[in-house]
Formats: sequence, structure tokens, C-alpha cells
Amino acid sequence: MMKLLSTVAACITLLLTASSCGNQNTISGLTEKDSSIPVTNLSANVQSSEESAEYEYTIQDVRNLRDFLLTRPTEEDLTGKPYDLNDDNRWDVFDLCLMKRELLYNMNTESDSNMLVIYFSRTGNTEKIAQYLIELTSADSYVIEAAVPYTDADIKYQDDTCRANKEQNDKTVRPEIANPIDSIDSYDTIFLGYPIWWGQEPRIIDTFLESYDFSDKTVIPFCTSGSSGIAASEKNIAELVPIGNQLEGRRFPASATKDDVKEWVEMLPLNNEQSEVKLLISVNGQELTASFADSTAAKELAEKLKTEPITVTLNEYGGFEKVGKLPWSLTRTDASTETEPCDIMLYQGNQMTIFYDSNSWSYTKLGHIDNTTQEELKALFGEGDITVTLSLKE
Ligand SMILES: Cc1cc2nc3c(=O)[nH]c(=O)nc-3n(C[C@H](O)[C@H](O)[C@H](O)COP(=O)(O)O)c2cc1C
Repeated sequence: MMKLLSTVAACITLLLTASSCGNQNTISGLTEKDSSIPVTNLSANVQSSEESAEYEYTIQDVRNLRDFLLTRPTEEDLTGKPYDLNDDNRWDVFDLCLMKRELLYNMNTESDSNMLVIYFSRTGNTEKIAQYLIELTSADSYVIEAAVPYTDADIKYQDDTCRANKEQNDKTVRPEIANPIDSIDSYDTIFLGYPIWWGQEPRIIDTFLESYDFSDKTVIPFCTSGSSGIAASEKNIAELVPIGNQLEGRRFPASATKDDVKEWVEMLPLNNEQSEVKLLISVNGQELTASFADSTAAKELAEKLKTEPITVTLNEYGGFEKVGKLPWSLTRTDASTETEPCDIMLYQGNQMTIFYDSNSWSYTKLGHIDNTTQEELKALFGEGDITVTLSLKE
């Protein structure tokens, strides 16, 4: 019920917006069947309420109708689309409101997903990525809309005094959200998407983050930008509110394809099946079980071991580790690390190191051995070189 109310509130906001941000002619023109929209064209588009009753609306439909109402070019041919939801023989903002409500209703009633894709997108690039993500993961979705929508002038970043620039220059600004989601309690994993504005997340993302409790959530940021990376926004997000587990995010260019998004999603530890796969290390007749780290290299290692187990000779080094060359290089995301006993690290991109004591250096984490202590590991490894066989344990 609350969700319905917030949707209705969002619709009212949309109506107010339509008449307050320069679109008045378009919207009222449509309502009055202004000659700027050919009547024949409009009637070719309309459909009976029976047709719309059977149709399952998608976010793409919302985008289509929104663009149509704003007289923007639409991504799809809209001929015959069932967008006359209130059966008054025309398409207008009331149909858009009803469509959004139906979409949300379907999401809430039909889905048992524990994943939610949340995004803010002003010019549609992030929305496109989010849409791919939703299709690929069957996650629920929620679009952050500003209570005072961003007009074209508001985001004209060449103008120092435009609204977006002023907001980005002040870390304390929290633009109000038009349609706050009631609760995110039923979700474990939250994808959070946004455009990069001046190297960072738009302030409305901060409003969103500060409005809910993420302390037991997995949060995965993603963004689109002209060229800037995601790192600064990831850091801001991590520092703003407590987050249970913030996974490494991903920046996409506006031109990213569904395959690009798919490739990324497949590398994420999203479902139990993937996260429960363990690394089995056989050494001196004993088996050690390790959890994979949340790094690209660890996922690549798991992927490689799916084909066949490998045997690696590890040499004693420094009184704290055994290190040896892997048959291939893995992606380095090195960070200065104080290792712990039982950590498994990637060294220089193509060597694996198992620590039985600690050391400080720049490594990429591959995993951590779960079922042994430092003393047991030391005893098992002995003082010389060892040979280990790596495989997967489902
Ligand atoms: C106010 C503003 C600031 C921007 N700042 C950056 C930036 O610092 N770096 C960058 O690469 N792109 C920047 N962009 C470009 C957007 O990140 C890019 O167009 C993005 O894909 C827009 O996403 P959206 O369509 O979902 O709104 C900026 C755009 C705006 C409107």
C-alpha cells in the first residue's frame, strides 16, 4: 500500500514537473490533441484496453512513452504499442503514471528476487546499463527520481553556476528524492547505478544511501561516464554509510553493450552456487580448503580450474611464504597488503603465494585457507619446497 502511495506521489510529482520545467506545451498539447502531434499518427498508436490489460510493461515501455511525451526520438517504433492505459484514446502522462504503477506492482507481486537494481540516470546512459542488468539478473528495480527534476539547464556543466555543478561542489547537499522506496529490507544484494558528475556520484545518490540501512547488504556500484573512472565515487560511498560488503564496482561507457554487462555480471559472486565453490589445495597427502577472494583474479583462477586441476611447485621464501609460478597470468588489482597466515595471494600477476606467516607487500588476493591453523600449515609445509595441486571443490 505504501508503495502504491509513493508511486502515486511520484506521478503527481511527474505531473507537476511536466508543467513546470518547460514541457508544458508538449504535455498539454497532447492532452488537447494539439496539431503538433498528428491525430492520425496518434490514433494509429492507440489500442483497446483489452490489449493493454494483457500486456506486461517493461522499463523500456516507460522510457518509450516518456520520450514520446517529451517529443524526443524513441528507441523503438511505437506503432501499435498498448500505451493508452486509461482508454481515453490518447497517450498522456496519466498513461505514464498508470504504466509505472503497473510495472512496480508486477515487480512487487511476482518477484522473489533478493537482488535490487537501483539507479539514477538523467540522460538515459546509466538506465540502459541498469536495464541490461535487470534482464540478466532478474533483479527487481527502482529508479531514483529527483523531487525537483534536473532540467537540461540544471546539468549544463559548462555553466559553472548550473545546479549540478553547485551540488557537486558542496558535499553536504542532499537533493530530495521524489519517490523514496519504502524499504530495502527484503534484498541482500543491491546494484547501485549512477552517472559520474565531476568525478563523483551525484549528490542524490548520497541522499539515497543515507536514507536506508546497508549494514547487512552487499552493495555493487556501477556507473557511466564520458571517461572518468568509478574509484572516487566508490570511496565516497564506502565512507558515507556502513555497508556490509561493498564489492568492486564497474564503470561503463555510454556505448556499452549487453554482452559487456553480462561479462561483468558473470564475474560477480552473486549466487550461492558461485560463492560456495571452494579452492581445494592438495599438499603432502592432505587437503586444504580455501575460500576464493572477491577479486577478478580469483574468479579467473576458479574459471581456469573448471577445465582441469593444475600442479604448481612452490618454493620456500623468507620464512613466511611458499611461492611459485602459475601456468598463466591473472588480472592484477594489486594493493598494499599486510598478509595473514593462510592467505593466498597473486604476486606479480603470475605467481601464487601461500603465507604461513605475515608479510607486507603489494598483492592481489586470491583466497584464504579456511580449515587449518598457522601451526598446522607450517608443519604441513615443512621447511623446503612443496608441490601443490589446485582444483575446485563444489
Ligand atoms: C554535471 C555533469 C558532470 C559530469 N562530469 C563528468 C566527469 O567528471 N567525468 C566524466 O567522464 N563524465 C562526466 N559527465 C558525463 C556523464 O557522466 C555521462 O554522460 C553519463 O553517461 C551520463 O549518465 P546518464 O545518462 O545516466 O545521466 C558529466 C555529466 C554531467 C551532466
